[in-house]
Amino acid sequence: MTPWDYPDFDDHEGVHLFRDPAAGLTAIIAVHSTHLGPGSGGVRFWHYADRDAAITDALRLSRGMSYKNAMAGLPAGGAKGVILADANHTKTPELLAAFARAVDSLGGRYITAQDVGVSADDMVALSKGTRFVSGLPPAEGQAGGDPGPSTALGVFLGVKAAVNRALGTDRLEGIHVAIQGVGSVGGGLARHLAGEGARITIADVDQHRAETLAAALGAEVLPVDQILSADADVFSPCALGAVLNEASIPTIRAPIVAGAANNQLATPEDGQRLHDRGILYAPDYVINAGGIINVVLEYAGQGSAAEVEARVAQIPSRLYQVWDESSASGEPAAVVADRLARELIGRA
Ligand code: NAI
Repeated sequence: MTPWDYPDFDDHEGVHLFRDPAAGLTAIIAVHSTHLGPGSGGVRFWHYADRDAAITDALRLSRGMSYKNAMAGLPAGGAKGVILADANHTKTPELLAAFARAVDSLGGRYITAQDVGVSADDMVALSKGTRFVSGLPPAEGQAGGDPGPSTALGVFLGVKAAVNRALGTDRLEGIHVAIQGVGSVGGGLARHLAGEGARITIADVDQHRAETLAAALGAEVLPVDQILSADADVFSPCALGAVLNEASIPTIRAPIVAGAANNQLATPEDGQRLHDRGILYAPDYVINAGGIINVVLEYAGQGSAAEVEARVAQIPSRLYQVWDESSASGEPAAVVADRLARELIGRA
């Protein structure tokens, strides 16, 4: 099968395959669109079942980055790197250097950043071999570095907007939010929510992490298999993708789903399923754009930390636009968001 034949091929501008056996590198860089600027998106280091799965992931993730960057109003297109890890996730300096050469060979059509399996230190290592890297340690008061806090802020503001929309209140006192996964983003979200008096219930496969945070914030802990159906006002998926699916959606009790995880919908039909149940859904790539706002502004050299915050503060207005159009047209929010994003990247 060629990349053109993959179901997730969406007229990507480029799908680049790299092999450097001496360095142990097998990688894909998928550039979905550079309509709005250089293709920006993280590089994922992951052990895939096979190469087809890796190519599919790169195709989907790069399209998602086009949508995310467009909806965040960034001067950036969408692209994604995927490095195929071995079963032991062996990541050597040689492998990173070879990936830096791969990025560099695209001449700036792809600007890389952190993603699953890749650390801030890896970004610094990559920057020794190419200048097309974001997410580097920021200067004082400037954009850049760890995207987690900006993502958490954006999700927090998105949750507030959703509460306002669905429950008609600006205040979070007594509003019950169930958070699945309290790592970098979910943990940050919980702290923001606690600061405004929300009632918080959390679950994490890392039980110690959940209990420590719960003790600090006065939150409740639920077993991981119960968080999705918690009797809450908001369910906030901040761990894995594909948690919203045919089996799980009927069990959700919250009237709002708003969280950070990428690719929350297992299939496009799941957007319709949420809509049919009357659940207000904040499309993932709209609400979780804070981190990419941070690193794109860093790369563009446009960013003070204050500018990042100001841009993250625009996330709710984009969500309202999606929900307003969804109410007017009767289409699911997920469908409306995809359409708006495609209009912005010239693919209506
Ligand atoms: P993280 O790795 O810091 O935290 C994820 C947490 O989820 C961990 O504490 C982990 O133990 C927990 N977890 C894993 N499986 C779980 C399960 N089945 N049930 C409950 N908890 C589970 O990751 P981070 O950075 O907080 O990202 C969270 C999600 O948000 C991911 O889907 C990520 O792709 C997405 N995202 C993150 C951004 C960022 O800036 N960090 C930006 C945009 C999206």
